[in-house]
Amino acid sequence: MALRTIRVIGDPILEKECKPIKAVSDRTKELIMDMFETMYDANGVGLAAPQVGILRQLFVVDIGDGKRYVCINPTVTAIGEEEQTGEEGCLSVPGKEGVVTRPMKVHVKAYDINMEPYEFDAEGLLARAMAHENDHLHGVLYTTKVEGELEDVTYENLEEYDFDEEEEEA
Ligand code: NI
Repeated sequence: MALRTIRVIGDPILEKECKPIKAVSDRTKELIMDMFETMYDANGVGLAAPQVGILRQLFVVDIGDGKRYVCINPTVTAIGEEEQTGEEGCLSVPGKEGVVTRPMKVHVKAYDINMEPYEFDAEGLLARAMAHENDHLHGVLYTTKVEGELEDVTYENLEEYDFDEEEEEA
């Protein structure tokens, strides 16, 4: 496994449409493992393939609920009309956050790491993560959906992060 370089806003690759994956090769599996490692290293809860320079329909999500989601060729559809409005960030927009409105519940259909189809409902933060990562596959950054100003991440928000693990490794 290896850390991949995360592309940042301004890189044209982040605004491109991704192509479907036809089969999961050993290279694809390596990419998926690298994406998890890169996401955890950066304290993210989701990472999409275009963020590491690969224009394929693939993202990974782990919001800390004990599940690791691998979503290949996903569709993410809102369930009902209920929405959630809250702070959002992105590893491709470092040091920034902004308020975005997303569906409260979504239905996700995708293929897993073995190219087996699966589907599930997601709610709250998981629904937000699914919608955000899915947008990446269609060249859409959350910055285009921010209500009001894009803001700098403050120390108050950073207190939520756990830095102890990093210190132990250093
Ligand atoms: Ni993002």
